[in-house]
Amino acid sequence: MATGLDSRHIQPELLDHLPPDDPKAIGSRRDLIWINSLMFQHAIMSSLLKASVREGSIRILEVGSGDGAFMLSVARRLARKWIDVELVMLDQVDLITDRRRADFAALGWRVETVTDNVFDWIAKPGGDAYDVVSANLFLHHFSDAALKILFEALRRLAPVFLAAEPSRNVIALKACSLLRLVGANQVTMHDAAASVRAGFAGKELSGLWPLGSAQQCEERRIGPFTHAFRVFPKEGFARCTMPSS
Ligand SMILES: C[S@@+](CC[C@H](N)C(=O)[O-])C[C@H]1O[C@@H](n2cnc3c(N)ncnc32)[C@H](O)[C@@H]1O
Repeated sequence: MATGLDSRHIQPELLDHLPPDDPKAIGSRRDLIWINSLMFQHAIMSSLLKASVREGSIRILEVGSGDGAFMLSVARRLARKWIDVELVMLDQVDLITDRRRADFAALGWRVETVTDNVFDWIAKPGGDAYDVVSANLFLHHFSDAALKILFEALRRLAPVFLAAEPSRNVIALKACSLLRLVGANQVTMHDAAASVRAGFAGKELSGLWPLGSAQQCEERRIGPFTHAFRVFPKEGFARCTMPSS
């Protein structure tokens, strides 16, 4: 039976086109918290970070950070040992509340926010240096051509890039229809299936990373739902192996 999953199909996600204060958008962002938990995204990203970045003074850029709930859960997993962290969260919508900032501050993490389209932001001159750039459920929004442009810019910003994205496979697509059972709204139901169809398989992301960079790429499916991508220095950090789920 043809599933249409042999290649990526990118279609607009409804959440990206709703005003942030639309009740359907608010409901869908709440659903996203559940979905990240069901996919074990926090655990996966925490493991990727621990495997790729030395403890110490760390600067993280998160692209497509949403309301910050995802990274706060990651921070809570890491905060006991990661005590000197500066986190810059970039999203096209300003969703980070004072409450969220206070939650990060309580962990000792210093937070800055950038509200911009990531492609406009990378086109601006200058740009800081980071230890790591991370993305959760973000890359699948973009075409391969756009990802090449993004990766070319990100490789100059940090030695490490980590992403946890939807895996494009039949089980993940079928599981989307079960989200109704956890009360997901129509926006989430649509966007979840769209995300799987736009998700990744095989070594697709490695193939988009700039050739000849001083970094190496690893990517693989973790569990039924997640496609993890890790870029790190060739001469790098000794604990550089993709963590298992
Ligand atoms: C599926 S949500 C994931 C949010 C967060 N990473 C999480 O896991 O909860 C995708 C996020 O990407 C943001 N986004 C989409 N396109 C963007 C762009 N071109 N530039 C910046 N942010 C973008 C959306 O506003 C949204 O917050």
